[in-house]
Amino acid sequence: MNNKALLEWQLAAGIDEATAEAPINYFAIKQQVTTSIPANHKTAAIVQEAKINSSHTPLHLVPLAASNAARELANKCDTLEELEDAVKNFEGCAIKKTATKTVFADGNPQAKIMLIGEAPGSQEDIQGIPFCGASGQLLDKMLLSIELDRSKIYISNTIFWRPPGNRQPSTHELATCLPFVEKHIALVNPKFLILSGGTATNALLQKDQSISRLRGKFYEYNNIYLNSPVKTALIYHPSYLLRQPLNKKQAWQDLLLIKQFIAS
Ligand code: URA
Repeated sequence: MNNKALLEWQLAAGIDEATAEAPINYFAIKQQVTTSIPANHKTAAIVQEAKINSSHTPLHLVPLAASNAARELANKCDTLEELEDAVKNFEGCAIKKTATKTVFADGNPQAKIMLIGEAPGSQEDIQGIPFCGASGQLLDKMLLSIELDRSKIYISNTIFWRPPGNRQPSTHELATCLPFVEKHIALVNPKFLILSGGTATNALLQKDQSISRLRGKFYEYNNIYLNSPVKTALIYHPSYLLRQPLNKKQAWQDLLLIKQFIAS
């Protein structure tokens, strides 16, 4: 394996930080940083970090400079093209550096139904298209079972870059991308929203229960850019169903509920 191939393999495995030849004492560095913060600010910094890492904090309340920058950019976008450009040029999310492509959306932007998944995986990162790998194939089958295909639905994710090693997006990354996701939904202005998996559900509905507890009923999704709430359904994430095929029975029930609603 040559050096470039080795580095690429390490990046794909989630190693996104280089270390130097000589050991670095990070404890000493941390000590210098924390002792330079006045005691009362130190407590505030610890509280803030704890809040960011707490899944109970609604993402739009997580105080982040990157999220504020994304909000300012999102506020200015009046079309999907402008939003896509803003996301592609945004440098506030560190995982963009380890990703190959920005994965913005697929499907029909005029569709009345929009689906939001979690994050791009390795195939999506290569092709720049959401849900084009193994879980995308299952998603397509699920949609086809209720007579939907990508000409009738618009698809995106809660974040636009592949997290290294396909790990779950962090609260920090979700909060950073949230203003773009909110504006994305408002510009598509769907009549019906489908959230696929716990990450999209927790990020957008600000609920921290699991999909298995929340599924089976409709919700009203709203954000600052929408004129009125959007009817919203939840489905298991296809990659979860690939790992837990026994839950396909419940997934089928949820899809039928969606089919009935669309037909009504
Ligand atoms: N999983 C997701 O949530 N989104 C994708 O685009 C691919 C896999």
